[in-house]
Amino acid sequence: MAETICFDMYGTLCDTSSVTETLAAELDAPQALVAELDATWRAKQLQYSYQAALMEAYRPFWAVTRDALEYALAQWGIEPDGPTRERLLESYEHLDPYPDAVETLTRLSEAGHTVTVLSNGNPEMLETLADNAGLAPHLDDVVSADEVSTFKPNPSVYENAAERTDTEIGDCRLVSGNAWDVAGAESAGMRTAWVNRANDPFERLGVSPTLEVTGLTEVADELS
Ligand code: LAC
Repeated sequence: MAETICFDMYGTLCDTSSVTETLAAELDAPQALVAELDATWRAKQLQYSYQAALMEAYRPFWAVTRDALEYALAQWGIEPDGPTRERLLESYEHLDPYPDAVETLTRLSEAGHTVTVLSNGNPEMLETLADNAGLAPHLDDVVSADEVSTFKPNPSVYENAAERTDTEIGDCRLVSGNAWDVAGAESAGMRTAWVNRANDPFERLGVSPTLEVTGLTEVADELS
């Protein structure tokens, strides 16, 4: 049966850890510090998005990502100049796609599914990244949480994706490498596929993924 398949962007189609190359080059920092900065940056980005949603104080994900970077730099005692900070932030527009991303999108489209992005990223940052990563030509649509001024896992973000693609929510499927996102989509009524690349246990939030895989190719194998 044809589904509307909604792919998370950061950590699912694109690898957020690709910012480490820019961090290392721009800051001339040892590898261990780069790894800490990367982890703090991503953790704070997610934490701030959850908090902004709960506080009902929405700001675009680009601003959230900038503030998370500022926190990470302050936490690790690094004080780069303004242009360097901009280049660090802009690495979010140049993330590497996972090697199996384009092939998976193509196979699912050929199998008759509608293939979209559903992300907390604001439209500008998503469009730039989808272009830079070579994903744009393989997507039917890009749906941003910005359209409802809150963030996943708020159910309104998943509901809006169903509405925007003119699909019953039960005929939509979120594909995400982020277990918290999969839990949110299940709870909102979507099917899901959890891309569990790190062999992690699933979050204990009272729901389970409809499908669990270890890479994107398996999503195409299961749904083609
Ligand atoms: C996304 C991030 C937050 O929504 O994973 O693309």
